[in-house]
Amino acid sequence: DVNAMQWISLAVVSSRGGHGALSTAMHAHYRAFSTATRRHTVMHAWVIDKYGDNSVLRFTKNASFPIIDYPNEVIVKVHAAGLNPIDINMRGGYGAATLKMKRDPLNIKRTDSEFPLILGRDVSGVIMECGLDVSYFKPGDEVWAAVPPWKQGSLAEFVVLSANEVSHKPKSLSHVEAACMPYVASTAWSVLVNTGGLNKDNCAKKRILILGGSGGVGTFAIQLLKSWGAHVTVTCSQNAEHLVRGIGADDVVDYTARPVEKTLKSLENFDLILDSIGGETESWALSLLKPWCGAKYVTLVTPFLRNTDQLGLADGMMRSGVTIATKALKHLTKGVHYRWGFFAPSGSALDEICELVDAGKIRPVLQEQFAFPRVPRAFQKVEGGHARGKTVVTVARVQGE
Ligand SMILES: NC(=O)c1ccc[n+]([C@@H]2O[C@H](COP(=O)([O-])OP(=O)(O)OC[C@H]3O[C@@H](n4cnc5c(N)ncnc54)[C@H](OP(=O)(O)O)[C@@H]3O)[C@@H](O)[C@H]2O)c1
Repeated sequence: DVNAMQWISLAVVSSRGGHGALSTAMHAHYRAFSTATRRHTVMHAWVIDKYGDNSVLRFTKNASFPIIDYPNEVIVKVHAAGLNPIDINMRGGYGAATLKMKRDPLNIKRTDSEFPLILGRDVSGVIMECGLDVSYFKPGDEVWAAVPPWKQGSLAEFVVLSANEVSHKPKSLSHVEAACMPYVASTAWSVLVNTGGLNKDNCAKKRILILGGSGGVGTFAIQLLKSWGAHVTVTCSQNAEHLVRGIGADDVVDYTARPVEKTLKSLENFDLILDSIGGETESWALSLLKPWCGAKYVTLVTPFLRNTDQLGLADGMMRSGVTIATKALKHLTKGVHYRWGFFAPSGSALDEICELVDAGKIRPVLQEQFAFPRVPRAFQKVEGGHARGKTVVTVARVQGE
């Protein structure tokens, strides 16, 4: 698009003015510059204008071009975008109350609503433009990132992110391969490191159980934990055993040959359980932990966003607070820790993961890739469940991919 390209080149020139803190006057000027030109700048994107089923996905050539509002932001040209279950859930309105509150007030003010909303949480691409405070990246750098759910997503030609959410992409991966990882990697990192207290130096003698080993989070977490020397047991369907063993799982339990808890109970107890399944797993999983040893159960399936959707922000957060406190206390009396785990964006975590990837210790598990015009088919695929790794959409065509 000619307008977009003109805007990009103008913006790139203006943002090369230097680094360091942006004065208020300069910032105001910069914002005014961006806002004034926005009306004439558009890009291709898949958007939704209301929540619903797959039919709400709409392709447009006129989506608003992203704007650098803060000096620490970068605009990334998207080469590949990965899909996650949260995209399916958000398409249906999941988390709308909380995410709307978290969205940048500048954006909400501009449009008065979250629509048109762009989904897509993983991005691999190339830096197009940097804010004045950005020194770690420069235009042309190949990067990967997980786009937080409260920001416009990656199913578009361009996406704007804070520089601290972005990381240099592993050199050993193509854009499509790189787009398999950031969201599940950032989630696994947040859950295992920040919530679970694990790291590369304390895993050697630890026994970890992953409930749900064959999907996006599971296939990444297995590899991260194995690279840190942990012993990893996973549950999955029988037809996923080959996949999870191939990426390092030590013990594999087929959850379809019920009762799975009985089989797991016959194994030595665990130091940490990562639960990506939820529901009734909570009723038996905590009894598999080593008691009074600081062992933790961390679940990714929490009622946090559902509560705020149903009860509103204040009451929903109150309900979540009471639920987590009650459960944590109940399990503490039995000598184990109960925790909720959440995705957290982190460029520095992706930097560390990049090293593991380039060292050949973690590889992408790409199940299927779709061209940009086939985004609704990609959503159907993810919505169908039974993931074996990741689903990725190619946005920009790259030679050799
Ligand atoms: N809290 C957060 O911030 C956060 C962040 C990321 C993800 N999540 C949640 O974490 C969950 C996993 O995410 P994901 O990206 O890994 O999903 P995914 O890619 O769709 O994978 C789910 C996997 O679980 C398997 N599975 C289904 N039922 C199972 C069971 N009872 N036991 C063992 N495996 C089972 C599925 O295969 P089969 O059905 O063929 O067995 C599939 O391979 C999702 O619910 C997601 O919403 C939460």
